[in-house]
Amino acid sequence: MIILKTPAEIEVMAEASRVVAEVLEIVRKEICPGVSTDDLDRLAEEAIRVRGGIPAFKGYRSYPKTLCASVNEQVVHGIPSKRKLKDGDIIGLDLGAIVGGFYGDSAVTVAVGRIPEGTAKLVQVTKEALYLGIKQAVVGNRLTDISHAVQRHVESAGYSVVTEFVGHGIGRQLHEEPQVPNYGKPGQGPRLQPGMVLAIEPMVNMGGSAVRVLEDRWTAVTADGSLSAHFEHTIAIQPSGPARVLSELTEGSA
Ligand code: MF3
Ligand code: CO
Repeated sequence: MIILKTPAEIEVMAEASRVVAEVLEIVRKEICPGVSTDDLDRLAEEAIRVRGGIPAFKGYRSYPKTLCASVNEQVVHGIPSKRKLKDGDIIGLDLGAIVGGFYGDSAVTVAVGRIPEGTAKLVQVTKEALYLGIKQAVVGNRLTDISHAVQRHVESAGYSVVTEFVGHGIGRQLHEEPQVPNYGKPGQGPRLQPGMVLAIEPMVNMGGSAVRVLEDRWTAVTADGSLSAHFEHTIAIQPSGPARVLSELTEGSA
């Protein structure tokens, strides 16, 4: 069952998502060679708590940390550790917060120092795929119009979408219905309605789409060792016009 949110509830979700956006920006600014992913995790937890939020991932199905920090061939759910970032790495930062009983969820992929042009293109195409998906998140469209737009853009660049993990509805739970795949034929699934809040999150591999999970039972990596990028926004379907991107830092400043 898809739980529609009232306008008042969407304002609370905007607050939760704003906390996530602000904290991701703070963490992003600290990224440089020599910083450990544990350093970033501590910073993220502190910054969420001073904003009155609760880290959403810590303790979720026994996930141990606040942040997911996925480096290079790690697709999602990389667990922060003593690992230090190196020049030329890319790192996916995925963060969730609970504010007023509602979740916000967002992810970005960031360059560490200087990265090769090909790597920068993977990051750029993944971000573009997210925004093309968001563009389809309008009343009258169906769910897989989002999915199809993401897949089309990624594959036209010669990359692969990950199919094992999907976006999701979000609200009082981190994961609500519907699932939001990053692939599929257009025009399928539920019709998009005002009050639907979705986390859209393309995960894109430079090589094949296959992934595997490491011994730590969390870290997903590309099966072929190729690089992977991930972007995510929490968005609300509006009564008319484009979706409201709740986890965008400029949200509300327009
Ligand atoms: N953005 C991811 C998701 O929505 C992050 C989940 S990490 C977990 O699934 F630890 F909370 F599972
Ligand atoms: Co998510």
